[in-house]
Amino acid sequence: MAEGNSDGPLFVELNTGAKMPSIGLGTWQSEPGLVGNAVEVAVKGGYRHIDCARIYNNEKEIGVALRKLIEKGAVKREDLWITSKLWNSDHAPEDVPAALDKTLQDLQLDYVDLYLIHWPLWTKRTAGASDPKNFSASHIPSTWKAMEKLYDSGKARAIGVSNFSSKKLGELLSYARIPPAVNQVECHPGWQQTKLRAFCQEKGIHLSAYSPLGSPGSTWLKDNNVLKHPILNMVSEKLGKTPGQVALRWGLQNGQSVLPKSTNAARIVENSDILDWSIPNDLFSKFSQIEQRRLIRGEFIVHELGPYKSVEELWDGEI
Ligand code: A2P
Repeated sequence: MAEGNSDGPLFVELNTGAKMPSIGLGTWQSEPGLVGNAVEVAVKGGYRHIDCARIYNNEKEIGVALRKLIEKGAVKREDLWITSKLWNSDHAPEDVPAALDKTLQDLQLDYVDLYLIHWPLWTKRTAGASDPKNFSASHIPSTWKAMEKLYDSGKARAIGVSNFSSKKLGELLSYARIPPAVNQVECHPGWQQTKLRAFCQEKGIHLSAYSPLGSPGSTWLKDNNVLKHPILNMVSEKLGKTPGQVALRWGLQNGQSVLPKSTNAARIVENSDILDWSIPNDLFSKFSQIEQRRLIRGEFIVHELGPYKSVEELWDGEI
């Protein structure tokens, strides 16, 4: 991985003062049996940031790979940035530390660098847990307090959220003792998050981009063909870079960190080769012409009996 320049830094600085590597390996939908090798290829190729979550069901395999890399001296723990996320069923304050402990056990670590509330929704672990009547959104203050305790304990060196709208972030900021360091959201040239990015910037919250390639492998998503967009392809041809690299470089130049998922060795390397070149201004400005559409709409959370009765409510109109 090449050194960064001022337009595409190797690190982004969080409001905790910590420096987070700006390119992280995504592991959502990374198949068991492949994800461990992907982590190994990535770390050996220079990645220092792995984005995980309990719900991805692959933290154990990632833990084995990390342990091996650390024991063999390929990387030091302190040079790695590991993120994980609190799943929706674990929002009860008493469940929050146990959820992180389970993640730490699986990852074979004694701290994570960043721990995020995965979605602004609690699916209570009571009878009928999957019944949307038991979904709650009104508890976030108490869940956040439990997250703050994890920060105090040192088991989570930074805390943040994922899938929060500007409105939900604003509410959280109104009572947080420790403000969120990061909001991790869908962000790519086809869903640029212009409004949320400006809000995060103003509040000192770093916006980290998941699905930065537009999730081309998620065949269950409709029309996720960001990498085939004519503007991306035009820029890609002009610069002699792949559409994937152009999408990721666009993210870095916006000040985001990017978390491309791949289990393919060549693409893992390709996706990190974005630091020693840049998209010139005249081409960068063309991205504003790309039509915008949210791909990950969170429909699994929306229900007429739950706290979010529509996709509009879940994202507070940022749709
Ligand atoms: P694979 O794992 O076979 O490389 P996102 O991070 O936006 O969710 O995108 C992940 C998807 O994009 C995966 O299906 C991954 O497949 C594919 N992918 C990863 N890197 C690239 C790339 N450079 N160009 C095209 N597709 C890519």
